[in-house]
Amino acid sequence: MCGIVGYLGKGNAKSIVLEGLKRLEYRGYDSAGLSLLDEKQNQFNIYKEKGRIAQLEKIIDLNDARVAIGHTRWATHGRVTKENAHPHQSNNGRFIVVHNGVIDNYKSLMKTYLPDTVFHSETDTEVIVNLIELFAVKKTPANAILEVLKLLEGSYALLVIDINTPETIYAAKHKSPLLLGKSDKGIVIGSDMMALVNTADNYLALDDETFLRITPKNFTLYNLEGEVLPYTMSLLDLDDFSSEKGEFEHFMLKEIHEQPAVLRRIISKYYNDTDIHIDKILLEKIKAHDSIHILAAGTSMHAGLIAKDLLESLANIPTQVHIASEFAYQQPLLKGKPYFILISQSGETADLRACLVNLKKEKYQTLTVTNVRTSTLAREADDYMEIYAGPEIAVASTKAYTAQIAVLATLAYALSDQSFDLKRELSEIAQAMEHFLDKKDQYKDLVAATLTKRNCFYIGRGLDYYVCLEAALKLKEISYIQTEGFAAGELKHGTIALIEEDTPVIAIISNRKTADNTRSNLNEVKSRGAKTLTITTESLKETDDQIVLDDVNPSLSPLLTVIPTQLIAYYAALIRGHDIDKPRNLAKSVTVE
Ligand code: M6R
Repeated sequence: MCGIVGYLGKGNAKSIVLEGLKRLEYRGYDSAGLSLLDEKQNQFNIYKEKGRIAQLEKIIDLNDARVAIGHTRWATHGRVTKENAHPHQSNNGRFIVVHNGVIDNYKSLMKTYLPDTVFHSETDTEVIVNLIELFAVKKTPANAILEVLKLLEGSYALLVIDINTPETIYAAKHKSPLLLGKSDKGIVIGSDMMALVNTADNYLALDDETFLRITPKNFTLYNLEGEVLPYTMSLLDLDDFSSEKGEFEHFMLKEIHEQPAVLRRIISKYYNDTDIHIDKILLEKIKAHDSIHILAAGTSMHAGLIAKDLLESLANIPTQVHIASEFAYQQPLLKGKPYFILISQSGETADLRACLVNLKKEKYQTLTVTNVRTSTLAREADDYMEIYAGPEIAVASTKAYTAQIAVLATLAYALSDQSFDLKRELSEIAQAMEHFLDKKDQYKDLVAATLTKRNCFYIGRGLDYYVCLEAALKLKEISYIQTEGFAAGELKHGTIALIEEDTPVIAIISNRKTADNTRSNLNEVKSRGAKTLTITTESLKETDDQIVLDDVNPSLSPLLTVIPTQLIAYYAALIRGHDIDKPRNLAKSVTVE
């Protein structure tokens, strides 16, 4: 959601920033812009376009530059227009700004400080840049920016250029992610590690309420009082998994296929022959609590539901799952000694950050389970566990879901006194995933024949129901088919009224205990005209079942049953010609509440 990249140094700033913005495309955006230093004219040119970065590239008439800042916008304040796209320039032209985040008090700032200013966009950002201009009449640019930062309520990652000092970029961060990368060629600054790839050797993930003055060779870090802060850079250690599409037509398909490898990687990171590599102190800390509360959003919340089942059944710890955006503002009554697990692929989800800020104030212990060890939620929780899924680029999350479940299963197991061979179970699942994916091409026609309507239902019971919720989210977010995941037994209490001729109903049946009941529910919808499709396992299959998976440990079945549902979503979107990796209206990293 919104991306920022800035560069100054010896390299070609234009291509570094454009390349960085492209690497951030996966976060989701609807317009893009760039400001480049034109050295011959000694001025900064600004280019903006609605739509994709490819459109923006077409209008840039400068070949090279040593300083550039760029932005991809995901509209929050104002429509998707060229005027609302960033960068924004102050009215006398002195300052140029790109901004991620939301300024809650921008209207009152406008009224108080800029009553006569004419605004050219509907954005909160234009208020920031004009405030800087106003304060810079009497102050140095750095002090003017610091004064503005103190007035802002909300979230920001900000890059500012003062055209009077073209070889300096000012940056600031509060609640929206920002990282600085450095090499002997120059300095890059971006809202995501992906923006630093190929340009930086070392990086610094900025804390909230920090301010930077950056020149081509160096930078100084300050707090909002203007005091210099110490820092330590970390080595930028790129992941083993490539962030290129390779042989696959889409990132989503590639990421679906990576899941067996991700499971094996998790095994290699968390298991050896006799032991599990999870910090004993962390395990003791969790055991000292009497309940677990899982907080997450979207797909990660669905992984949390499976984790709840595992934590209760294996580790015997009462566990509840909460939607982060609800918990942040309606915290339930917490009794005893609760422990909090935050699950987030990106580690940047603003709804979760809002929860974490409250939990820290209330002195609760927190653990973040994430794919990005440098992320805000990883840094700010008491502990973190990495899921090792490698960069997930497609907006629709696939491999992060299975990786989250596998890591949380490992945690549940480590907290238990069970002695079955979880490592072997996980590697059998990796094989079963591969076995299914080898046959994937045969299912495209099945999807075309089944999903012929505007709506669809997934039904299942227990863990299968939880997978139905994830399956429905996946299908709706990329195919735009209105899909609901339902507890199969609940259909007859109302929803069955929606079943008509050819309504697609997909059942997931992987548990012997509930298989017969779910099949009865499937028959009930079939006899009302539904077009049904069944995903089941070898030992539970019946003659007409269309998708049959290998048998695996039933308590881990979601790791396998979710794979066909990911492919169903993929094929449904492919058949409809949708932009699979960047579905409409969605962002990969949801950094606003
Ligand atoms: O990065 P997070 O795991 O915190 O993201 C949470 C959701 O925004 C995310 O899972 C979203 O639902 C996905 N697009 C689903 O595919």
